Amino acid sequence: MKKVGIIMGSKSDLPVMQKAADALAALNVPFEMTVVSAHRTPQRMIDYATNARDRGIGVIVAGAGGAAHLPGMVASLTSLPVIGVPVLSSNSIDGWDSILSILQMPSGIPVATVALDGGANAGLLAARILSVADDALAARLDAHRAMLEAKVMGTVGEVEAGSKPGNQN
Ligand code: RP5
Repeated sequence: MKKVGIIMGSKSDLPVMQKAADALAALNVPFEMTVVSAHRTPQRMIDYATNARDRGIGVIVAGAGGAAHLPGMVASLTSLPVIGVPVLSSNSIDGWDSILSILQMPSGIPVATVALDGGANAGLLAARILSVADDALAARLDAHRAMLEAKVMGTVGEVEAGSKPGNQN
C-alpha cells in the first residue's frame, strides 16, 4: 500500500497533526511524519515534494499556520493529492489567515482543505483517497463510519428520555 506523508511547518503544529497520524494508525494505513517548513527550509520542501511519489507516498497531508504556504507550495511541486490542515498557531491572528492561505489556491493547483485544526479529518480523507485502490481499507473505513453511527445512536435514548416531561433534573 502507498503511504501517507504527513508534514508540518513547525514542531508546534504537532498536537494537531498527531491527530492525522492517530487516525491513520487506527486504520492500519502506513505513514511517515516530519517537519518541513516552506519559509525556513525551502530546499527541504522542494526535495520532499519532488521525491515523494518515488518514495512510495500516495497522499501528502500538510499542516501550517499563519502565512500557511506549505500545502500550496508542496502541491505546486508534485501531482500527488495534497490535503491542507490550517493550524491555529501562535503566529495566527485568529485562524482565518491559516484557513485562507491554504483554501484560496489559484486554479490549476488544488489543495483539499480541512477545518481549522482538522488533523483527524485530514488523516481520514487521506485514507479514503488510498481506499479507492484498496478494498480492505475501504471496509475498515466503512466499519469506522458504522462505529460513529452506533456511538451517536447510543446517545439518542438518553437525550430523548431527558426531554420527556417529569424527567428533567
Ligand atoms: C508556521 O508558523 C508553522 O507551520 C506554524 O504553524 C507557525 C508557527 O511556527 P513556530 O513559530 O511555532 O515555529 O510556519
